[in-house]
Amino acid sequence: MNNISVYVHTPFCKHKCYYCDFASFSNNEDFINEYYKALKKEIILRKNEINSRDISTVYFGGGTPSYVDSKYITDIMDILKSEFNIKKEAEITIEANPESVTEEKLENYKIAGFNRISMGLQSANNNTLKEIGRIHTFEKFLSSYELCKNAGFDNINIDLMFSLPNETLKDFIDSLEEVIMLNPTHISTYSLILEKGTKLYNNYKKNNIIIDDDLDRTMYHYCINKLSEYDYEQYEISNFAQKGYESKHNMSCWDLEDYIGFGINASGFNENTRKTNKSNIKEYINDLNNNILPINEENKLSKEELLGDYIMLGLRKIKGIDIEKINKKFNINFTDIYNDKIEKLKRQGLVMIENNHFKLTYKGLDFANTVMVEFI
Ligand SMILES: C[S@@+](CC[C@H](N)C(=O)[O-])C[C@H]1O[C@@H](n2cnc3c(N)ncnc32)[C@H](O)[C@@H]1O
Ligand code: SF4
Repeated sequence: MNNISVYVHTPFCKHKCYYCDFASFSNNEDFINEYYKALKKEIILRKNEINSRDISTVYFGGGTPSYVDSKYITDIMDILKSEFNIKKEAEITIEANPESVTEEKLENYKIAGFNRISMGLQSANNNTLKEIGRIHTFEKFLSSYELCKNAGFDNINIDLMFSLPNETLKDFIDSLEEVIMLNPTHISTYSLILEKGTKLYNNYKKNNIIIDDDLDRTMYHYCINKLSEYDYEQYEISNFAQKGYESKHNMSCWDLEDYIGFGINASGFNENTRKTNKSNIKEYINDLNNNILPINEENKLSKEELLGDYIMLGLRKIKGIDIEKINKKFNINFTDIYNDKIEKLKRQGLVMIENNHFKLTYKGLDFANTVMVEFI
């Protein structure tokens, strides 16, 4: 049997950042206890979906898993360990906000088996942090990063964002350089997406502010070039890693391997079926209190849909899609059936075939969505 990955969602944050539309809420502390009770129940009720398969990666995301008392997190890890077989070499990640990590929490994570931390910094500029509703300063981030190192975490990802409000190229370069100086094993850099309904979106709309696309692309390409100078290999559109530190969890998602998602709004892909949980925390808890699975959507994918997803996700990887692998997996001749599209995109300079891999070119990285829609 193949391996499976596990995602566990924590929907709590101390404060909602102005750009964020993830399923995460502030001022919902009253639900924390009930939520984790329900989460445990969900894991038990859906045990059969994992069955006797080995778990190769575990990812506690959010929201802010580091915000809640670490006993909630370690209790869930205990259940996963007692009910399933987590591989010895499994990558086990927890997302953390610099504001909420403490020595004690980190020690408990370590004991529970976490071996990777992903910390959101977003910017090293304190004015920018304030403008996007972050509740920590750069100095607080530095001390939290140090705590992680001292607790024995040597595999740490730092999230950065760019094209942030009033951010100049120099601001971004400074942030990137501060991060590089810390020498983390992994860096993710995300271009700001203005998500409908967020405070930032409303503010931009009200004041007719638009994102400067040219500046955005300049920042992105600066980032790619600078990080490669420091031996960070770009392995996905937004992700860079030192050798051997690519995120195994994310790679398994981009390879369309099976994963299961527990918690509100969590989605999973298992045995060709996509499932997404309800996003309302009260409904989620109520359903589980009544022994009902809190599923919002469930879709078994057709072969065509699977192929479309495989191509779309595969193109996110810098090494692209292994043509021999896709041919075998779907029993097709990839370059034959997509010949016209591939030739058109090649002429536009957006894709190429190298070492029998179909992938985006450097220029294509800026037009990834244009390329992907051709294959859906
Ligand atoms: C689910 S968040 C979890 C991180 C953690 N809660 C924190 O903020 O410190 C993962 C990352 O997605 C990125 N992100 C969230 N919203 C975004 C948006 N609207 N545009 C671009 N990146 C975004 C941020 O870099 C963030 O750190
Ligand atoms: S970015 Fe992170 S801390 Fe901020 S609201 Fe979103 S999940 Fe919470």
